[in-house]
Amino acid sequence: MESMNMRMVKAVMIIVVLGVLSELGSCKVVQFIFGDSLSDVGNNRKLQKSLATANLPWYGIDFGNGMPNGRFCNGRTVADIIGDHIGVPRPPAFLDPTLNEEMILENGVNFASGGGGILNETGSYFIQKFCLYKQIELFKGTQELIRRKIGATKAAKFFEESNYVVALGSNDFINNYLQPVMGDSWKYTDSTFIDYLMETLESQLKLLHSLGARKLVVFGLGPMGCIPLQRVLSSSGGCQVRTNNLALSFNKASGKLVSDLSKSLPNATYQFGDAYDVVADVIANPNKYGFNNSDSPCCSFGSIRPALTCVPLSTLCADRSSYVFWDEYHPSDRANEMIAKEIIRKLGFLYTNSTSVGSPSPSPVEAPARTTPEAPAKAPREAPAPKSTNTVPAKAPTKATHEAPAEAPSSDD
Ligand SMILES: *[C@@H]1O[C@H](CO)[C@@H](O)[C@H](O)[C@H]1NC(C)=O
Ligand SMILES: *[C@@H]1O[C@H](CO)[C@@H](O)[C@H](O)[C@H]1NC(C)=O
Ligand SMILES: *[C@@H]1O[C@H](CO)[C@@H](O)[C@H](O)[C@H]1NC(C)=O
Ligand SMILES: *[C@@H]1O[C@H](CO)[C@@H](O)[C@H](O)[C@H]1NC(C)=O
Repeated sequence: MESMNMRMVKAVMIIVVLGVLSELGSCKVVQFIFGDSLSDVGNNRKLQKSLATANLPWYGIDFGNGMPNGRFCNGRTVADIIGDHIGVPRPPAFLDPTLNEEMILENGVNFASGGGGILNETGSYFIQKFCLYKQIELFKGTQELIRRKIGATKAAKFFEESNYVVALGSNDFINNYLQPVMGDSWKYTDSTFIDYLMETLESQLKLLHSLGARKLVVFGLGPMGCIPLQRVLSSSGGCQVRTNNLALSFNKASGKLVSDLSKSLPNATYQFGDAYDVVADVIANPNKYGFNNSDSPCCSFGSIRPALTCVPLSTLCADRSSYVFWDEYHPSDRANEMIAKEIIRKLGFLYTNSTSVGSPSPSPVEAPARTTPEAPAKAPREAPAPKSTNTVPAKAPTKATHEAPAEAPSSDD
């Protein structure tokens, strides 16, 4: 009885102490994600004029309740999978109407937007999207909110301890440079365009550093000349070699940029990870990795190609885990898993269970099927898939940057 009481007292004391510790200081480690449709978890679905959205079935069919959730995939994104592995919560979309300071402190924020690029002008025909500069501007507003909530000193510490992911670039090619209607396609050559991207990315990464980002990972591009949308452009149905070479050049240049910045910026640990080689091998030898198709989308609209997006009238492949591509642009959940594993392996990420419990983030459970997403199944080693493209740009929602993200812009959908 007595000892029972003692135990309860001790338990209460421990809880109180833990509570005090977390009040005093160390916030949870969370992540802030900047990206395009490969990382979008619901921003574009709140941009009412965006032409790049994943609002209709069968997006999300292998995730949570199986309804569309804003991800341009049947299941998880690469960032979802890497974050799960590291043990950090999946951050909610910036435009999630329920976002508030507590959620940000517990889960971080995902600013990724389909169609977004490193360059402001990329993907302009999607009408609405957040380009990387806009995403950083929204991040600044988020920082202001947190400073008001917990004070400048604690906020600075919180942002310095957070993880950052920057994953853009494919739209700058697919939905900009490689489109004859876009000014950049005639203004630059392959190499001057890459230089222009690198100058821009360098400024952006330095800007993030000035805002407190110390631990940051930049994802490279996959063989984007092999996405189904690119293949239909070639008479043979093969991969577009020039597009793949652009991805390789981008990876080489951005890998060097990130490594240089990691040395020159104070206290920075900036890493670059790509999965190009593995994805290229998966695409060339799908059977070796347990895939059955690596050249067409699982979600397709009869013989109409390219189908642009997956819609309710589309037909799905019989086994979603056997397709490398979910739609014309985006890898399937299982391909994303291979990409994530490759990046985890290359960067040596360890699993840390720092965060346990409770993350209200929008993402739950995985869903169906035969692939058992969580279990690293004995799946083929890792392999990624191309990244890609999609959507939207431009005049982002007029949300005042300094306003609380909570009252997000309208919407629904
Ligand atoms: C890019 O867009 C941001 C706002 O999103 C703006 O502040 C910046 O001046 C633009 N840069 C260029 C080069 O147009
Ligand atoms: C780098 O880290 C040291 C030690 O934590 C700290 O004193 C210094 O202010 C940091 N510098 C920057 C620019 O963050
Ligand atoms: C995929 O599976 C089907 C049915 O089992 C088979 O006929 C086809 O050859 C396979 N395709 C590839 C690329 O493995
Ligand atoms: C991580 O934490 C969760 C929740 O606290 C727990 O269920 C899980 O077993 C832990 N995993 C490892 C590898 O420690």
